[in-house]
Amino acid sequence: MSLLMHTLHVELGERSYPIYIGREVLADPDLLSQHVPGSQVVIVSNDIVAPLYLDRLRSALGERKLVTEIILPDGEQHKTLDTLNEIFDRIMADRHSRSTSLVALGGGVVGDITGFAAACYQRGVDFVQVPTTLLAQVDSSVGGKTAVNHSLGKNMIGAFHQPRAVLIDTNTLHTLPPREFAAGLAEVVKYGLICDEPFYRWLQASAPKLLAREEAALAEAIERSCANKARVVAADEREGGVRAILNLGHTFGHAIETAQGYGRWLHGEAVAAGLVMATDLSVRRGWVEASELLDLRELLTSMQLPIAPPEGMRNEQFLDLMSRDKKALDGRVRLVLLSAIGDACIVDDAGTEELAELLSDLSLIHISEPTRLL
Ligand code: NAD
Ligand code: GLY
Repeated sequence: MSLLMHTLHVELGERSYPIYIGREVLADPDLLSQHVPGSQVVIVSNDIVAPLYLDRLRSALGERKLVTEIILPDGEQHKTLDTLNEIFDRIMADRHSRSTSLVALGGGVVGDITGFAAACYQRGVDFVQVPTTLLAQVDSSVGGKTAVNHSLGKNMIGAFHQPRAVLIDTNTLHTLPPREFAAGLAEVVKYGLICDEPFYRWLQASAPKLLAREEAALAEAIERSCANKARVVAADEREGGVRAILNLGHTFGHAIETAQGYGRWLHGEAVAAGLVMATDLSVRRGWVEASELLDLRELLTSMQLPIAPPEGMRNEQFLDLMSRDKKALDGRVRLVLLSAIGDACIVDDAGTEELAELLSDLSLIHISEPTRLL
């Protein structure tokens, strides 16, 4: 039996859905029969996660007329149209109908590609997210963004397609490698900074418990992160406006990821450095106290996350990559900054000089690769 600790709801009218957070929820037959009700199921996972958790999920799903299991090779490099096509090949060969449900068991890669497969198959079938990384539990499994990568851009081919439910099993975090766990924490800190100061203060006080992966602290951090994400998504499902605040630190972070080559820095690591840079700029504008910047650096360092861009990344390269960001308007950099801790705003007046000054000051505290820190 599962130990359900929190239940939340993403309020989107007829597309509303619950998020369950607790121990062993992925092995809870009641939750699964409620949200995967039909006789046909497709489980998509990968070759790292499946050996750990697939058996339990399969037995909780119980006897079904048609069950297809698709185990993808691990890694972001497989989040492609080719892999998507392989998923369609299997589903069609097994003759799944429009009443089938897809279940994504894995991190953000499995969740994004499975969600996109569900959005496309027969013009849209149901799917359920069972996220197994911290990043997927607090971010990618909630909100309905699904996608695959194209050789010319990350997440460029995709759709908004909301899941029917999100089952967050906190037990799965115990097998997550430390670097992946820390990367997820960066997104947790992001929620505090953008829209929830009390949560941010709680994170500052609870960092040691989180790092020790204490059950109650983890469930609390995941619940508060998902509650914030659910609120923002409910207000702006398709990112016409406020949803963009979820990208705090991401414009800087994407520039780091691109410059380093994908995979060298994890997304959450690049976001951590980006959070510091966005907060630094907010301090320079007089919106946030300088002491908050020092505290943020301390918090992220305690989480074993980077707090500055990589050594050797040139400022011109940064500026060039940032002006090519998806959010840039007519070449002008659009940034999420903080008008206060717990209150994000979107600005499109960040000038080259302001950014160049930030970058050259930061060059004094460049750090080496995150891998060497851990
Ligand atoms: P990931 O899915 O690659 O998982 C990271 C690694 O951890 C992988 O090797 C995976 O196999 C392994 N893993 C997963 N669960 C495990 C477990 N419980 N124990 C041991 N190993 C485990 O990466 P991620 O960080 O979860 O997700 C990144 C992806 O999410 C990117 O593709 C990104 O674009 C996407 N994303 C999407 C959204 C969205 O809103 N849809 C938001 C943020 C990120
Ligand atoms: N990860 C950003 C979003 O879901 O909008």
